[in-house]
Amino acid sequence: MKCRVCRGPAVIDIRRHNSNFCVDHFLKLCRDQVAKAIKQFSMLEPGDRVLVAVSGGKDSLALWDLLVELGYRADGLYVGLGIDGYSDVSGEFVRRFVEERGQTLVEVDLRADEGFDVPTAAAVTRRVPCSACGLSKRHLFDRAAREGGYDAVATGHNLDDEAAVLFGNLLKWQTDYLGRQRPMLPARDGFPRKVKPLVRLTERETAAYCVLRGIDYQVEECPMAAGNKHLGFKETLNDLEVRSPGAKHDLYFGFLDRAVDRFTSAGDGSGDVELGACAECGAPTTGEVCAFCRLAARARDAEPVALGPPRRRR
Ligand code: AMP
Ligand code: FES
Ligand code: ZN
Ligand code: ZN
Repeated sequence: MKCRVCRGPAVIDIRRHNSNFCVDHFLKLCRDQVAKAIKQFSMLEPGDRVLVAVSGGKDSLALWDLLVELGYRADGLYVGLGIDGYSDVSGEFVRRFVEERGQTLVEVDLRADEGFDVPTAAAVTRRVPCSACGLSKRHLFDRAAREGGYDAVATGHNLDDEAAVLFGNLLKWQTDYLGRQRPMLPARDGFPRKVKPLVRLTERETAAYCVLRGIDYQVEECPMAAGNKHLGFKETLNDLEVRSPGAKHDLYFGFLDRAVDRFTSAGDGSGDVELGACAECGAPTTGEVCAFCRLAARARDAEPVALGPPRRRR
């Protein structure tokens, strides 16, 4: 197996590019794909201050490293979700990255700072845990960006994530979600700009990037997300990709090219309902009190939920 660029020994094959790459040219490919996504969707300007939401997993740590390599001023944000046996370990991977690379990290801890955790919040909502978790994360990302004066929040969503979410939204024709499924959402009404610079890279590539760059990451999936639909859609798309390399890319980028505008005109949510300030926390909201403060009030009053003994790590 030879590198497409230099004919030296290749370490990875990427079937959707119909090519193999050596270490240096694979790392360059990753940087180039991120730079291309940033340019293609006007995600960032050279002087922007970026807050990278880092979970301790491969995608967000790779993203942070890539943005720094590309010359962006990028700080990290880690949110401790209070999931026993998972959150503490995830935080350790993030802190180790920060120490080794001398970066700046903002930390928020749901239990210590907000008085509740994701398992308890999930129990009071009686919905899938990821919904209370996602709501809390989005709120805390927005707040940290506002308070820190960052221009944009970057998350580590990759091509597999975005294609799977798109597939799920298409199966149910969730038109409002489809209209908002863009890799860049401009700032509006007190919400920061949101960007997903990894949309041109797959999970397999971000994992290889971390290994080759010596980035140690949390390999476990969140124990509360086990069996969720999103993971099933990813498997389905992976099966399809084996038979038809490039299928995920074509599905997602074809949608952005040819269909997303049909679901919203501006795509940034402008023109939606008027927003006021949350009476509790001041965050932009359509109601009197924002969804996060309502969830937090219920979760703080509830009996804390134990998730059971920590899972063994590989
Ligand atoms: P997930 O929703 O877990 O698939 O994560 C999607 C993205 O959200 C990750 O790539 C990170 O950028 C960000 N993220 C997830 N969990 C956390 C966390 N605990 N703290 C900070 N960012 C997170
Ligand atoms: Fe949110 Fe697991 S990380 S439910
Ligand atoms: Zn090469
Ligand atoms: Zn609020």
